[in-house]
Amino acid sequence: MARISFQLNPTLFTRVKESNSSNESQLLNLQNKTQIKNSRVLILGGTGRVGGSTALALSKLSPDLHLLVGGRNREKGDALVSKLGENSEFVEVNIENVKSLEAALNDVDLVVHTAGPFQQAENCTVLEAAISTKTAYMDVCDDTSYSLQAKSLHEKAVAANIPAITTAGIYPGVSNVMAAELVRSARDENMGEPQRLRFSYYTAGTGGAGPTILATSFLLLGEEVVAYNKGEKIKLKPYTGMLNVDFGKGIGKRDIYLLNLPEVRSAHEILGIPTVSARFGTAPFFWNWGMAAMTSLIPSEVLRDRKKVQKLVDLFDPVVRAIDGIAGERVSMRVDLDCSNDRSTVGIFSHKRLSVSVGTSTAAFALAVLEGSTQPGVWFPEEPEGIAVDDRELLLQRASQGTINFVMNKAPWMVETEPKELVFGIFI
Ligand SMILES: NC(=O)c1ccc[n+]([C@@H]2O[C@H](COP(=O)([O-])OP(=O)(O)OC[C@H]3O[C@@H](n4cnc5c(N)ncnc54)[C@H](OP(=O)(O)O)[C@@H]3O)[C@@H](O)[C@H]2O)c1
Repeated sequence: MARISFQLNPTLFTRVKESNSSNESQLLNLQNKTQIKNSRVLILGGTGRVGGSTALALSKLSPDLHLLVGGRNREKGDALVSKLGENSEFVEVNIENVKSLEAALNDVDLVVHTAGPFQQAENCTVLEAAISTKTAYMDVCDDTSYSLQAKSLHEKAVAANIPAITTAGIYPGVSNVMAAELVRSARDENMGEPQRLRFSYYTAGTGGAGPTILATSFLLLGEEVVAYNKGEKIKLKPYTGMLNVDFGKGIGKRDIYLLNLPEVRSAHEILGIPTVSARFGTAPFFWNWGMAAMTSLIPSEVLRDRKKVQKLVDLFDPVVRAIDGIAGERVSMRVDLDCSNDRSTVGIFSHKRLSVSVGTSTAAFALAVLEGSTQPGVWFPEEPEGIAVDDRELLLQRASQGTINFVMNKAPWMVETEPKELVFGIFI
């Protein structure tokens, strides 16, 4: 197998691959493998759930990184820094203030943007500052418009020679890489032409996430769902089109509903799949009813207005937190690929705690960017220039640490919660 060593240069990210026969499991041991030690990583929104979880995961995966926790609240920042230890510090920064942003990015190798919500944001201020300060960039954006705005800065990022990835969290993020790998395997194994890709997501409660995720969910309910059917773009009502999907071991069967998520468009365009959709469901079951009711009862203009949505969040947050305490925070992603010759494959990723696995997933992308897996430009995770094809397996290995179930390239019957028994070669 390949031994991989990396050279990090803040303005030019290069990777050197060599061959030797060291053990596959060594891939997870970053300390021996890479030269990303002492790199400086700024996590914007680091005082929040996703950013904090990313900082903790990075400090475990690569203890020699210097972590800068960026946010507006020093008290919250100092509390996290005390957990992260000596190699970290708090940096006061407001992403709405270009001067404060550029000052924070000075002398930083990579900025990880988790300071959402990304919905209805007017500009990609952090990516623009990353380009002007020649800093590598990634975000955990989960909004189609924002991701396309980020992509529109591609040429500027190329000119500045900086690598950047948008939508690089757990979903979207790891789910895009799972989809790309299913498609690659299907093509390699001559399973016919990939025809339909379905992203299915389940999270109990808010998944232990912050108030921003509640705002994100409400803002998404105000957006028409874009899906693709046999190559044609279609628009559908949010939180409709229910399916009961089997998420397998530890999660079971769950109801999920259509949502407007950026990976649908990027998978359709980049992976060339004619039919693509994404659905999401939560627990307890009445939250799903509540979400469906909101799309019918509250005008979509209200659900698209950040200020009005913030008022709704303030109203609902205490109830949501109380129910979160009972619901837990299990998370599962299932990606289904159907090919032309009746062959189908599935990938599943399930974890007991979204608040932990979102950080592990985001950290896996951060390490990939630092190690030189990403070319200059702005990319989606499924693009080979975003995460090099050879590096996808390592990214999935890192992201899936701590999962209760992680499978790829299985036939659908193999992942069923209650597998049918095979008697004399026949499924019953
Ligand atoms: N792609 C994925 O897989 C994925 C998964 C989950 C969540 N997300 C997205 O991640 C985002 C964060 O979610 P979360 O649960 O971590 O929310 P959160 O706990 O509310 O954290 C958001 C953080 O952003 C910071 N922030 C907000 N506005 C800021 C500003 N103007 N300047 C600097 N910092 C600012 C806040 O810090 P201070 O108030 O301390 O300044 C806050 O701590 C959401 O947009 C969510 O949709 C993506």
